[in-house]
Amino acid sequence: MSDIKFSLLLNDVHMIIPPYLYSYLAVLTVVSHIRHWTFSVARKQKFSIMWLKEAYRVLKPGRHIYVFIDWRMYSLIFHLMKHVGFQIRNCIVWDKVNMGMGWQYRYRHEFIIFAVKGKSKVRRIGSRAATDILRVPRISGNKTIHPTEKPTDVIKPLVLNSSLEGEHIVDFFCGSGPVKEVADETGRLFTGFEIDPEHYSNAIKR
Ligand SMILES: C[S@@+](CC[C@H](N)C(=O)[O-])C[C@H]1O[C@@H](n2cnc3c(N)ncnc32)[C@H](O)[C@@H]1O
Repeated sequence: MSDIKFSLLLNDVHMIIPPYLYSYLAVLTVVSHIRHWTFSVARKQKFSIMWLKEAYRVLKPGRHIYVFIDWRMYSLIFHLMKHVGFQIRNCIVWDKVNMGMGWQYRYRHEFIIFAVKGKSKVRRIGSRAATDILRVPRISGNKTIHPTEKPTDVIKPLVLNSSLEGEHIVDFFCGSGPVKEVADETGRLFTGFEIDPEHYSNAIKR
């Protein structure tokens, strides 16, 4: 990546999959949330360290990063984020209101790790009323254009709390592009990366 420094990083890496495996797994994700365990922890770890180091490098000191992650990958990403230098501050729970896939206890939540770069002059979040629970309904399956699509209503409070108008925010794994839409709507500059041409084309249309 270039030498641009960003004011906010929002990343949704749900599956932590090397890019060449992603399109295969994206399909499986819809069918089963378990299958991604078939890839070795070492491979997930290598890929995750790579992008987290880059995230740390490009974020401005004192600024925020949010990483959406499910419970199976939480501990790995938590430790790797600390390892590359981030100070973990919270684990936000996104309550999706409506249940999703799975059996036994069906999925209704996702974690969002909130962390900062550095220990001094850390920006405070923009709301004193924000809690670590975000209750926002998931997008129902027949309305999504991406297998792990996030509603803009879950992204918007994070963008508003952690960046100012005119600042530059980045999403390394932008999928269908909800962060781009929120950035446009709230007057932030946006940089996004998406390896899948179809998702890329959907994202830039938003
Ligand atoms: C969990 S999804 C993001 C979904 C997105 N937040 C949304 O709401 O639509 C992760 C995305 O990262 C993309 N991806 C995977 N590896 C990548 C890489 N190395 N560079 C850029 N994008 C990548 C995948 O194609 C996928 O669309």
